[in-house]
Amino acid sequence: MKFFVDTAEIDQIKELNDLGMVDGVTTNPSLIAKSGRDILEVTKEICSIVSGPVSAEVVALEADDMLAEGRKLAKIADNIAVKVPLTWAGLKTCKTLTDDGIMVNVTLCFSANQALLAAKAGATFISPFIGRLDDINIDGLELIEDIRTIYDNYGFGTNILAASIRTANHMSDCAKIGADVCTAPPNVIKAMANHILTDKGLAAFMADAKKAGIKIV
Ligand code: E4P
Repeated sequence: MKFFVDTAEIDQIKELNDLGMVDGVTTNPSLIAKSGRDILEVTKEICSIVSGPVSAEVVALEADDMLAEGRKLAKIADNIAVKVPLTWAGLKTCKTLTDDGIMVNVTLCFSANQALLAAKAGATFISPFIGRLDDINIDGLELIEDIRTIYDNYGFGTNILAASIRTANHMSDCAKIGADVCTAPPNVIKAMANHILTDKGLAAFMADAKKAGIKIV
């Protein structure tokens, strides 16, 4: 499973990228706003750091305007994936950009039917939002499972990009189901390293090492 990092914060992207943890980046208008930077400028900088797909989201609602924005975003770098919302206008934009050879990430997916439409429109990525479904007591992981089954039934090439990841458990659960990619905030990726027994075991080893005066360098 590929790891995308869900942020527009350059330092955090660099830190995880240096560790080989970043196969791509996703942003959205809220994350760009949080960075306080110009969308074109910060996206260009991210693309210069990460070689995998970098999702940059349109802000228009009508298909013609989305297309103009998508084409402008795609000019930033070869690894841009234009992110469009799962609306009829977004699907239309997806089809046109895909036909032009541009990667498209269809976002704000909350149902298997929506994922089916995105695949038919040729999306490179579909982004089902697990956390936001969990927030309203609908099982987000079940949606990932349903999309996996549907895409496998018919051999759709669209990559399942599990998004709105809130916990480290979401990452391993998505990997078990067979999501192609998970996009998560840096703190969630880092939290995957945590285990109480690791902390406990390490404390015991350190205490014994101190007692025995073990020195290596
Ligand atoms: C990624 O593409 C999405 O924009 C992001 O994962 C949304 O996450 P949130 O629901 O935590 O805002």
